[in-house]
Amino acid sequence: MNDGKAATMLTDAQEGRTNGRTSGRVVLEARELRKVYGSGGAQLTILAGVNLQLAEGEMVAIVAPSGAGKSTLLHLLAALDTPTSGTVYFDAKPIDGRADAALAEFRNRAVGFVWQRHHLLPDFTAAENVALPLLLRGTPLGQALETARGWLKEAAVLLADEPTGDLDEQNAVAVFELIERLHRTHRLTSLIATHNAALAGRCDRVVGLEQGVLKLRSVGLTKGGTALGGEKS
Ligand SMILES: Nc1ncnc2c1ncn2[C@@H]1O[C@H](COP(=O)(O)OP(=O)(O)O)[C@@H](O)[C@H]1O
Ligand SMILES: [Mg+2]
Repeated sequence: MNDGKAATMLTDAQEGRTNGRTSGRVVLEARELRKVYGSGGAQLTILAGVNLQLAEGEMVAIVAPSGAGKSTLLHLLAALDTPTSGTVYFDAKPIDGRADAALAEFRNRAVGFVWQRHHLLPDFTAAENVALPLLLRGTPLGQALETARGWLKEAAVLLADEPTGDLDEQNAVAVFELIERLHRTHRLTSLIATHNAALAGRCDRVVGLEQGVLKLRSVGLTKGGTALGGEKS
């Protein structure tokens, strides 16, 4: 385990190699996030001190095998779960120090969450369902986008948990491009867990989760020889 090294690598990437489309203002930050399940001798450390900064306008992919802790991390970042220790900051303010009403406001308005498909529940509100699940249920693209836009107007952060996980390649690309479009149109700050390396490569930055800490996988990826930031602007 080398938490310090992972944190340093991420900081370097943040400061030196963002693609110019972000303001550099940190919107969402995880500091030394730990999540341990169980107690006594049966403890299972899922997150072992995760440090992550998402700058305004950044689209970051998190790629790691099943069971690595991606969903756990996304849930903590969305304040849907509480860490064993460590802190999540939104706009430089710790979210765990917020009163219940402020926390509900953060969950409902500041963060949009695209659930892993098998987590979708029929009684979710439209706001929780965003465009992607609408698309999966056969809603026409235009209508799904409109619904998502109405909701995303309020949200600053988009967290998507394997949004293309169950889709064939063609639909995976379509759904990813929808997310990209929403991200850009609304100047969101987005973190997307995915197994799809090609789609991850279209994000500004890719991080991995290994042994409970984030590792930088690659930065400044290019597509067709063009710097991604230039291509997308
Ligand atoms: N409530 C829980 N109690 C105990 N273990 C859990 C719980 N939730 C998740 N885990 C375990 O934490 C690990 C990480 O899970 P998860 O965050 O869902 O990984 P990923 O999304 O990367 O597949 C898995 O080994 C899973 O079994
Ligand atoms: Mg998961």
